[in-house]
Amino acid sequence: MNGRSSKMKDIKTEYVQTFRDLLQTPSYIYFMNEVYDRLESLKGAFRYKLDISYSIKANPNRSVVRFLGEYIQYYDVSSLGEFNVAMDAGIEPERITFVGPGKTNADLKAALLRGCGYIVAEDEEEIGIINKIGQENKIVQKTLIRVNPLKYVKGFGIYMSSGTAQFGIPEECLEDVIKMAGKMPWIKLSGFHVFTGTQCLSEESLVNNMKNILNIFTEFSGFMDQPSELNIIGAGFGVPYFDRDEKINLKYVGVNIEPYLEDYLNVENFKKAKIALESGRYIIGEAGIYISKVIKVKQARKCTVAILEGGMNHNMAATGNLGTLIKRNYKITTTSNDEKLEDYYIYGPLCTNIDIVAREIKLPTLDAGDIIIIKNSGAYGFSASPLGFITHRIPREYMVLDYNEPPIDITSENNLAYIGH
Ligand SMILES: Cc1ncc(COP(=O)(O)O)c(C=O)c1O
Repeated sequence: MNGRSSKMKDIKTEYVQTFRDLLQTPSYIYFMNEVYDRLESLKGAFRYKLDISYSIKANPNRSVVRFLGEYIQYYDVSSLGEFNVAMDAGIEPERITFVGPGKTNADLKAALLRGCGYIVAEDEEEIGIINKIGQENKIVQKTLIRVNPLKYVKGFGIYMSSGTAQFGIPEECLEDVIKMAGKMPWIKLSGFHVFTGTQCLSEESLVNNMKNILNIFTEFSGFMDQPSELNIIGAGFGVPYFDRDEKINLKYVGVNIEPYLEDYLNVENFKKAKIALESGRYIIGEAGIYISKVIKVKQARKCTVAILEGGMNHNMAATGNLGTLIKRNYKITTTSNDEKLEDYYIYGPLCTNIDIVAREIKLPTLDAGDIIIIKNSGAYGFSASPLGFITHRIPREYMVLDYNEPPIDITSENNLAYIGH
C-alpha cells in the first residue's frame, strides 16, 4: 500500500469545498496566511538575527512576489526574467541578488544598469565581465562570490555543490579569486553566497551545513579589503512531501546554531553586515495546493483508475518527474464525501505512462466532477512544469489571504509573459 487513506478533511480541503463555486479547475491555490506564519516562525527560530531572502524560482507569480515584499528583505533571482518579475512587482532593485551559472553579458549589463543590489558571481570570468561592464558604464557593482564548499554535508535531497557542479568557485581557489577581485576598481566585493543543496529535512544536517557556511564566511572575509556587507546562507530547508516525512523542527535548528551564529555576529568584520537565509520551497511549498477535477473513473484490469484534467504537465513534481528517484505519492485529498474508501491509480490526461499522479492510493469513492487536491504544491509547481506539453489548458492561480476569504484570481500575474518567444 503506497498511499494512505485521506478521509479526514483538513482546512485547505474544506476551503475548496466551501468556495468551490468560485474556483475554476485545474488550478493552484496559495494560502498567504500560511506563508506569513511560516516566515514568522523562520525568523523567530533564529531570533530575528537573520534576514530572509526569497528565491523567486520557487514561485514566480508576481502577486506572490509582491505580497512577500513586506515580510522579507531580499529576493534571489536566477534569470533576467525573474529580475523583471521582481521589478514589476514593485521590488526595489537594491533588494535583489542575481545568481545563476549561465548569466550572459547582456543579462549582467541589464542588471547593472537597472541597479541590481548584488550580483552573485559564479566564476572568475564573470567577475571580470562585471568589472568591464561597470567600467564602461561608470557603475561600481556590489558583488558576492558564490562558493562551492569543500565539505560535503549529508542529508540533502538535491546537491548543488559536488565536485563536478557548475555552481560557484571552489573553496580551495577562493583566496586567489578574492585577491583578484580586490584589485578590480568597478567591483565592490561585498560578501559570499553559499547554496549547497536543497530539500533537507534533517535538523542535524541543516545545522552542520549552516555551521560550515558560517565558517566559510568567517575564514574568507579575512582576505577581503573591506568589511562584508551581506552574506547569504543557502539553507536548503525542505518540505515533508510524503507520508513518512517529518516537518523540520525549526526550534532545534535555531537553538543548535545559535552559539555559532553568535560567534559569527561578534566577528569585527560582520558587525555591520547583514546575513540572510535564502529559501524558496520552505516559505511557500506547504502553503499551496493544486486542484483538478476527475474527468472520469474507469476499470483498468486489476485496478480502478481516475483521470484528471491535469497531471505532469501542470504539476511535474507531484508525478515524481522533478528529480525524485523513488516515486511516492504526494499527500492527496478529495472533495468526495463518500463513506466508502477505494484504492485508485490516479493519472493526468497526457498520452504518456509517466503521467501518474498517485499509485494505490485509498480515497473516498470518486466520481467524475469530484476534485482531487494535491498538497505541498506551492513551490516548483506552475513554473516548474512542462505546461506546453500536449497543449492542454494551463492551470489558473489563486491567492487566498485567509481561510474565510474568497480566492483572488492571480492567473494574469503568472510568469509566462517573462519567458519570451
Ligand atoms: C542558488 C539557489 N538558491 C535558492 C534555491 C531555492 O531552493 P529551495 O526552494 O529548495 O529553498 C535554489 C534551488 O535550486 C538555488 O539553486
